[in-house]
Amino acid sequence: MIEQLLRTPFTDLVGVRHPVVQTGMGWVSGPRLVSGTANAGGLGILASATMTFEELEQAIVEVKARTDQPFGVNLRADAADAPDRCRLLIEHGVRVASFALAPKPELIATLKEHGIVVMPSIGAAKHAVKVASWGADAVMVQGGEGGGHTGPVPTTLLLPTVLDAVDIPVVAAGGFFDGRGLAAALSYGAAGVGMGTRFLLTQDSAVPDAVKQVYIERGLTDTVVTAKVDGMPHRMLRTELVDELEETSAVRRMGPTMRRTLEFKRTSGMSWLGLARDGRAMKKAQGRTLGQLALAANTPMMLKAGLVDGDTSAGVLASGQVVGLIDDLPTCEELIDRVVTGAADDLRRAASYALDAPGT
Ligand SMILES: Cc1cc2nc3c(=O)[nH]c(=O)nc-3n(C[C@H](O)[C@H](O)[C@H](O)COP(=O)(O)O)c2cc1C
Repeated sequence: MIEQLLRTPFTDLVGVRHPVVQTGMGWVSGPRLVSGTANAGGLGILASATMTFEELEQAIVEVKARTDQPFGVNLRADAADAPDRCRLLIEHGVRVASFALAPKPELIATLKEHGIVVMPSIGAAKHAVKVASWGADAVMVQGGEGGGHTGPVPTTLLLPTVLDAVDIPVVAAGGFFDGRGLAAALSYGAAGVGMGTRFLLTQDSAVPDAVKQVYIERGLTDTVVTAKVDGMPHRMLRTELVDELEETSAVRRMGPTMRRTLEFKRTSGMSWLGLARDGRAMKKAQGRTLGQLALAANTPMMLKAGLVDGDTSAGVLASGQVVGLIDDLPTCEELIDRVVTGAADDLRRAASYALDAPGT
């Protein structure tokens, strides 16, 4: 692991060596990837939305066995058992709680009382203002080019609006893969970068090799944002299945949707009551229709079919546009070393362009 080359408000806040975050990706961000990132000096985040409560506890224990460095857990703030999962983080001394949606102020307060850094992900400046006013310690902002659920505004435009709106550390995500990106984000005023697709494509990620090859072969225009999988804009690789979903009516999609919902209920161990409670919470939080909720419940299974089982005819592969710029599979350590070293060089070069003001 290289020495610390960049010190930012984020590295100070979290206690990591490098301002690089491996983001929480369902079915992808497991113990090996998270501990690989942590041991390389970055912040690795476990994705817990696709884990049962017991699986999350096992995953936390496994990360702690593999590293003594800080790491985080990504939680669904709208899940019915979110408070129980937060208690787990407290019990195990997890350093960072990352949230896909805004957590309740009381939850933020409880986590902070126990010294946990709270870092929700947001997609608009007004949401950053809201969570900052509730006590969030940092935010991660994801621009439209990012993988998974995403918004319409690119990182280059969204990031300055968020930086202008809050004075807590901001981590920029969406489209980052190398040192130039980290240098650019820090020059904007961000305190670090978060990378999803780039970490999915490392040797430490558990995604099957054949699936990694499918990603690596893709170009810059080979992703698509579709709302046909779960009713929310979701960026993924364009595959035959996605094209079909885009063309098929909601009625014809319903049969396979219900099958996958049943499968998710079985593997997640959730009761119908639990699913319904989650569904009601999601509907309240996001104003979705009941049809969209049925779709939402089967999304995890479609992602699992693609990312775990490697079946691209039955599953979807969430991905950022940045996939078109990635053509190798480094270890987490190789990746972080080159991103940080490259950024430090780029920042020095850029600083050399600035002329001394006359008279100084
Ligand atoms: C395969 C995949 C799965 C993802 N799953 C989640 C998730 O479970 N929770 C979440 O908050 N974000 C999720 N995301 C979004 C990422 O955490 C991250 O914000 C995004 O990938 C950043 O953009 P990039 O891919 O251009 O680096 C996912 C992204 C990908 C590519």
